[in-house]
Amino acid sequence: MQCEFLIYRFDPEQDEKPHYQSYRVTAEPTDKILDCLNKIRWEQDATLAFRASCAHGICGSDAMLINGDVGLACQKLVRDYKTGNNFVIEPMPLFRVIKDLVVDLKPFYDKQRAVRPYLINDDDPPEDERRQDPQEQQAIEPALRCILCASCTSSCPINRANLNYLGPAALLRAFRYVMDSRDTATGSRLAQLDSEDGIWGCKIMRWCTEVCPKGIPVTQCLTQIKKVMRQAGPETKPG
Ligand code: FES
Repeated sequence: MQCEFLIYRFDPEQDEKPHYQSYRVTAEPTDKILDCLNKIRWEQDATLAFRASCAHGICGSDAMLINGDVGLACQKLVRDYKTGNNFVIEPMPLFRVIKDLVVDLKPFYDKQRAVRPYLINDDDPPEDERRQDPQEQQAIEPALRCILCASCTSSCPINRANLNYLGPAALLRAFRYVMDSRDTATGSRLAQLDSEDGIWGCKIMRWCTEVCPKGIPVTQCLTQIKKVMRQAGPETKPG
C-alpha cells in the first residue's frame, strides 16, 4: 500500500522556522513506523534526522509523536492507525528540538539524576550481598521495566504546564528506591518529593500510563508514593 508521511522538519542552524515535508512510501500493514522512516532516510532523504537503535522496544530511543500520540516508532505498526494511509510524524512535545525528530533529553536525564537513582544503604555490607525476598522484589518490579524513553513525561499535561515538575519518569524512578526494602534513605527521599514540583504535582491524569510502551502502571506507582508519604507522616522530613 502507498502511505503518505508528513514529517516535521527543522534544523535550527539553517531554518528560520519548522516546516512539514511530505514523503510517499510503499509499506505493508505490518510494517513498523520505524521501517517507513528508515525507508525514507535510506531511499529518499538522507538528511532526515531521528533516533533509533534496537528496533525492538528495548532502548527507548525512538519515541516521537505519531498522528498526535507519543509512541515508539519501532513498536507502532502501519495498521495500528485509523487515519487511512496518512501519517503525521512530529518530535516529542516538551523538549527542545535539536533537529527534525531528535529532541534534547538533557532536562529529562537531569531529573532522573535529581532523585538519586541508586541504592542508598550506609549499614555495613553483608558478606555476600544485600538480600531481598521475591515479594519485596515484586513491589518494585514495574519500575524496573522503564526504558527511559520519556514518552510518559512528554505526554504529561502537568509537565507541559510546569517544567519544574519532576514528571512521571523521575517519580517512577524515585518509587523504585522508596519501595526498595534494601534502601535506608526513605525519609530523605520522601522529603525531597514532598512538593507540587514533586509527587503532589501528579493530578492522576493517567496519560503517562496510557502511553507507556512497557505497560507500566505509572499512575498506580505514583499513587503508592503518596500513600507511603501519608502513612510516614511528618517524621519523613529530614533534620
Ligand atoms: S529503537 Fe529501541 S526502543 Fe525503538
